[in-house]
Amino acid sequence: MKRKKITIIGSGNVGATCAHWAAAKELGDIVLIDVAEGVPQGKALDLMEAAPIEGFDCNISGTNDYADTKNSDLIIITAGIARKPGMSRDDLLSINAEIVSSCARLAAEYSPEAIIIVVTNPLDVMTQVAWKASGFPAQRVMGMAGVLDSARFRTFIALELGISFEDVSAFVLGGHGDDMVPLVKYSYAGGIPIDKLIPQERIDILVERTRKGGAEIVNYLKTGSAYYAPAASVIQMAEAILKDKKRILPVAAYLQGEYQQQDMYFGVPAIIGSKGIEKIIEVDLSDKERIELNKSIASVRSLSKIVGL
Ligand code: NAD
Ligand code: LAC
Repeated sequence: MKRKKITIIGSGNVGATCAHWAAAKELGDIVLIDVAEGVPQGKALDLMEAAPIEGFDCNISGTNDYADTKNSDLIIITAGIARKPGMSRDDLLSINAEIVSSCARLAAEYSPEAIIIVVTNPLDVMTQVAWKASGFPAQRVMGMAGVLDSARFRTFIALELGISFEDVSAFVLGGHGDDMVPLVKYSYAGGIPIDKLIPQERIDILVERTRKGGAEIVNYLKTGSAYYAPAASVIQMAEAILKDKKRILPVAAYLQGEYQQQDMYFGVPAIIGSKGIEKIIEVDLSDKERIELNKSIASVRSLSKIVGL
């Protein structure tokens, strides 16, 4: 069986770590591309030199030329600038819109059948920018944020209960911003609803920590933002696509009536497989959750307007 080909645009913290997790899972051959000369080439060679030790058979190369990305099955866009302390994800908007638009257009020209996962922030808007620039059907363009935000929520729940991270399931709905909506009623520890195990005031604290999860790490790092868990989240989506796993994952997907919204990318649960976003799943929401969701929708739409979407 022919190996899959994965192009990762942007060989910075998230992109290089995506390559690391993808190689470790032997998902396919990997091309790292960046505008920085030498960086994708050096990181790719260094990672490939781990192959004899780690035992993965992936050809990993770095380039500054899109021709080398030709016929990729999956394109991961991490190109852009990351947050600095005091910067919101929204502050990255105009700079990253330019970058993401050009990357998506160039990558799509060389790989017209690929699926795109966008990482660059502000995520929901950048995913729509990439979709427009690529000319691909919306099903083949998605954004990574909900898997990361849900992983953070799950981490905090597991730590609160002193249990295995593996036994916590949860998901976060909405835009990748401070008004994201961690859905407590769909969160379980070992199949038990978390509100049977954790007092409400503690749950509220975990929800708030999840919403501010990105900023918490930026404030520690000072010069950049999170990349281990973000990259692991991207590669969970990549694996679902490349192995046609039909996973239900929260991703930024293009809404055409779902959740009573049209023409926007937004974080919702969806079935992810070889075709990309194979089905968007609508879940029942309480009045309070609906109000929170509408707040998140408004935030995303206000950003979209700025870049003319
Ligand atoms: P980084 O600065 O470490 O890496 C960004 C890379 O993009 C750099 O190597 C830079 O040279 C490259 N780049 C810039 N312009 C380019 C272009 N036109 N073509 C190709 N490469 C280009 O940043 P990072 O920590 O890897 O974060 C990347 C982006 O991902 C940021 O916008 C960050 O906010 C975002 N992010 C999103 C999530 C999420 O949950 N969606 C999580 C983490 C980071
Ligand atoms: C985060 C930012 C970088 O959630 O999107 O870590």
